[in-house]
Amino acid sequence: MDLRPIGVFDSGVGGMTVVKELMDVLKEESLVYFGDTARVPYGSKSKQTVTKYSFQNTRFLLSQGVKAVVIACNTASATSLEDVRAQFDIPVFGVIEPGAVAAVNASRNKKVGIIGTERTILSGAYEKAIKALDPSIDIKSVACPLFVPLVEEGWADTEVAYMVAREYLKPLKESGVDTLVLGCTHYPLLMNTISKVMGDVTLVNPARETALMVKERLSEMGLCAQRQAVPEYRYFVSDNPEKFEEIGKNFLKRPVSGIKLVDIEQY
Ligand code: DGL
Repeated sequence: MDLRPIGVFDSGVGGMTVVKELMDVLKEESLVYFGDTARVPYGSKSKQTVTKYSFQNTRFLLSQGVKAVVIACNTASATSLEDVRAQFDIPVFGVIEPGAVAAVNASRNKKVGIIGTERTILSGAYEKAIKALDPSIDIKSVACPLFVPLVEEGWADTEVAYMVAREYLKPLKESGVDTLVLGCTHYPLLMNTISKVMGDVTLVNPARETALMVKERLSEMGLCAQRQAVPEYRYFVSDNPEKFEEIGKNFLKRPVSGIKLVDIEQY
């Protein structure tokens, strides 16, 4: 039994989709969230830069006394999970492996689509994770960089989002995938629009799968909080807490308050 919080970081507000699932699946666990709102987006940056940011974010979370770290950001998970694991002596979870396991389990025709940021798609991380589980699966990957600003603008369920989605998803539809991994923190908010375009295709939300995997692994390691523990949620950002409060509630589906500012360059 361990009452210390779980640390979660993301490039900004998107990781709140992972927080939502963690709160739902791990009801007794306290959470410390760090959103790197000063340096977002990670999706268009190099591996070196994203890895440097991931190290700083992890150091900050460790300074808050966390017992484990969840890299909620797909881009950071895809590029720097192994480096963070090698650098820090604490359990570190990413979102790629849980998403890959769910996709392999869901696909019947062994054709899986992946969508994510440019960096996530370039990294090939989802492909590697899926192929390691089942080499016979055909994978089609597409970067969808406009999805993030659309969601942050609050335009997820609009005609504009639908038109953009139709363009991006055309090659995936044509390739006949029966399963599509929403490989970016923001994409669960586009579920309706993506579903309208893709039709009868299973959409995998790695956030949900990650929360389930974190629960299983923490329990194996004897690191879960006790039953009926009352969780505490703390939020930190590297810029603009007011904006985070305003947009964060759309991702979390409940109000977010008490957000504190951190000078992440000190870590
Ligand atoms: N959080 C990022 C991800 O899941 C999306 C936003 C960004 O590019 O930083 O890949």
